[in-house]
Amino acid sequence: MHFQMKMIYQLSSDFPLDRKDELSEIIAQTTSVLHKGVSEVDQETSTKISSWDISGSSLEFQFTAGETRVAPHHAILRLRKYFKTTLGERFRVGLRGFKILEYKIVISLDFPTNTPFKLPFTQEILFNEKEATIIIDPSIPEDLLEKGAIDRIIRLVNDKIHQQRYGSKAEHHRILFSSPQKQEVCSSDPTEQMVKANWLKRAAHRNQWIITPTLTTLTEAIKNIMVDHLYKPLGFDQMIIPKLVPWDVWKRSGHSEGIFQGGFEPYFVVAPQTADPKFWEEVADHVKITKEIPRELIASKVRPPLGGLSFAQCPPFYWWLKGETISDTTFPIKIFDWSGPTYRYESGSAYGFERVDELHRIETLFVGFPEQVIELGAQVRDKLKFIFNDILDLEVRGSYVTPWWQAHSGDVKEEKEDTKAPTVGTIDFEAYMPYRGNRKDSDWLEIQNISVIGSKYPKAFNIKSQSGDQLWSGCGGGSFERFLTAFIAQKGTDLSKWPESFLKYVDKLPKPIEFL
Ligand code: SER
Ligand code: ZN
Repeated sequence: MHFQMKMIYQLSSDFPLDRKDELSEIIAQTTSVLHKGVSEVDQETSTKISSWDISGSSLEFQFTAGETRVAPHHAILRLRKYFKTTLGERFRVGLRGFKILEYKIVISLDFPTNTPFKLPFTQEILFNEKEATIIIDPSIPEDLLEKGAIDRIIRLVNDKIHQQRYGSKAEHHRILFSSPQKQEVCSSDPTEQMVKANWLKRAAHRNQWIITPTLTTLTEAIKNIMVDHLYKPLGFDQMIIPKLVPWDVWKRSGHSEGIFQGGFEPYFVVAPQTADPKFWEEVADHVKITKEIPRELIASKVRPPLGGLSFAQCPPFYWWLKGETISDTTFPIKIFDWSGPTYRYESGSAYGFERVDELHRIETLFVGFPEQVIELGAQVRDKLKFIFNDILDLEVRGSYVTPWWQAHSGDVKEEKEDTKAPTVGTIDFEAYMPYRGNRKDSDWLEIQNISVIGSKYPKAFNIKSQSGDQLWSGCGGGSFERFLTAFIAQKGTDLSKWPESFLKYVDKLPKPIEFL
C-alpha cells in the first residue's frame, strides 16, 4: 500500500512569515505526534512529511506513507489537533479546517479486475494487473473523513475485486435433517390448482393475490396450529410490529448496505411534500378531466423515499428496545407477529403464489442471554419440525443456509464446511414440490427459516441488560403463501386426501364464489 497526499490547513489569519523558523521547529516535532502508539517497525512506513510550505493563511503539506496504521488521512486529523494548540499558543493563529488537494492511494490486489469501477467520493480508480490506484475526490467532506470513510473506500475496493472473482453470493446450502418421505397425492402446479378451484385470484398489482375466504380459512387453521403447538407451549406473546420502516431502522439493521444487491429488494415509501389541498388541487383536477392518473406530476410533488414497506418483518421490532437497559429477569423476550403484510420487489416476470410481492408472514422473535437464545432457537426449530412433519404431514427438510441478515445486507461471508450446525446461523425448512420433478434434482421450496443471530441486533440497536451481560437475538419467519403452496403441491385441493391432524383445525371451508 502506498499513500500520497497534498493538503492545506486553513489558518484564521496570515502567518507572520518572519517567524517561519519557529514554525519549522514545531513541524519537526510532529514526528512524535505521528508515531504515537505506532511500533518501531511500523514507524518506518508510517506517514511522513515529504515537504511543507506556508503562504498567507495556507499551511501546505505533502505526505507519503506505506502500509501503516497511521495513513495520511489519519495523520491530518492528529496534526489538526496538534496545530490547533501549538499555533494558537505560539502565534495566536487559529485553525479553520483543512482541504485536501490531492490524495492518491495505491493498494495491491490479490487478483486483477475484469470490470473496472468507480466509487462515491473517488475521482477515479485506475487498475493494472497488480494494483489499484484510488484517486480520492478532494471535495470529500471533512466529517466523512473523520468518520472513517477513506478506510471504508479501501476496504470496498478489495471487497468488490473479491466479489468479481468469487461472485457476490457465496450462498451455501447443506441439508441437516429430512422428514420421512411422504406418499405423493398430487403432481401439478399448486397455484394452477388453487386458481382452478376458485380459491385464488390475481390482484391488481403484480405478484399480488386475492386470498379468498376459502384460503383465508386455511391460513387461520395454520395460525392456530402454530399457536397451539409452538407459541403457547413455549410461552410466546403476540405483538404488532410496525410495517412502515424508515431508513433509521434499515441503517441499523444493515439492510441499507445491501439495497438491491441480491438479498434486499424493498418497496419504497414516499410522503407528499405537503398535505396542503392547494398544492394537490391540480392533480385532482387533472384526474377529473382526463380520468387518468398523472403519475409524473405526482412524482414531482412527493419527497424522496422515507424508507420502505416492511421487508424482513423483525428489524422495526428492535426499535422498541433501542437504547434501553432491560432487567435481567425480563429475558428471554418471546414474541410473534402476523399483524400485516411484508413486501418484496420480485423482479422478472409474473410468478405464482409461491413468489409474491405482497406476502403474509408470521415472525417468531426472541431476545435474551446467549444460552437462552440458543436454547430457544433449538426449541422453535423442533416445534416447527413437528408442525410441518406431524400436523401438516409435509415432506420437508432442514438446511443450513447463508444467514438471512448477511444475505440481506450483501455481507455474505465465506463459510467453513463443518458437519455440525453452528450456534449462530440460519436453518431453512424446505418442502418437496412434486410437480417440479424428482426429490433429488428439483428445487424444494423454502417455507420457513429459523435463526440464532447472535449479538448483531442488540448491538446495532444499543440494547443492554441490567447486568451488562451480552444479549443475543434470534428469529424465524415463514409466509402463509409458502405454507399453502407447499401443502397444496403435496396434497392437492381434494380435502378427502388431507391429513386428519390438519382438518381438525378447519371448521368449515367456505364455498368459493361462482363466477359465471
Ligand atoms: N427476519 C427473517 C427473514 O426475513 C426471519 O423472518 O427471513
Ligand atoms: Zn426476523
